Amino acid sequence: MDFTKVSEGKTKIVYDYDKDHYLLYYKDSITAGDGARKDEIPGKGVLNAQTSAILFRLLESKGIETHYVGMYDERTMIVKKLKMIPVEVVLRNIATGSIVKRLPIKEGERFDPPIIEFFLKDDERHDPLLNYSHMEYFRLFSRKEAEQVEEVMKQVNNVLYKFFLEKGLLLYDFKLEFGKYQDRLVIGDEITLDSMRIREKDTLRILDKDVYRKGADLDTVKKNYEEFFKRIST
Ligand code: CDP
Repeated sequence: MDFTKVSEGKTKIVYDYDKDHYLLYYKDSITAGDGARKDEIPGKGVLNAQTSAILFRLLESKGIETHYVGMYDERTMIVKKLKMIPVEVVLRNIATGSIVKRLPIKEGERFDPPIIEFFLKDDERHDPLLNYSHMEYFRLFSRKEAEQVEEVMKQVNNVLYKFFLEKGLLLYDFKLEFGKYQDRLVIGDEITLDSMRIREKDTLRILDKDVYRKGADLDTVKKNYEEFFKRIST
């Protein structure tokens, strides 16, 4: 890519595009366990870029602001320049993953209203849970901002949960990251099978990155990503 690299993460690269925009390039890498396991799945970057684009456009069409502007090529997104806040915000509809290990909650328990959690982005410390005081101390989100973010998470959930249900899919949980854009909090990063837990509604078959986390072969993982993309794009 003929642009200056601004930063590189485990699955994406940020380039400086113009005064107001970055390019977000989706790599073919897949990782788990805070980077402990890492593989390449040819074509995954394209699938994730396209998946993210569909979901960002869906949110924008419902009046929810994201960093998405358009596509530069099939695996590269043009995005607004946000000042990212290193917090992962998770909303859970159905219990699975870290919450059933951390708290006396059974796998598959339904949360109504959904549970929202904040985690510090810190692989070395395995993304520790944050409360409002922690976030104020680290100057991540003020209490008011944290409440705004929770409101946006619920709006996003209302849109995504319905959208997936219409495709025969169940949204267990998802993670978003936020950034500042002209003093507004805007959704950045990605919305893909790497950042959500999605199961087939009727069979509860796992379609998301949990398949990889559990050690499945890369071909199975890729087939799931392809199937998911096909289902949400038709
Ligand atoms: O993935 P793990 O069990 O460690 O964490 P979780 O807190 O249960 O994950 C909740 C949601 O956030 C899932 O949809 C994960 O895919 C997503 N997540 C993520 O996108 N990035 C992380 N570093 C951790 C979780």
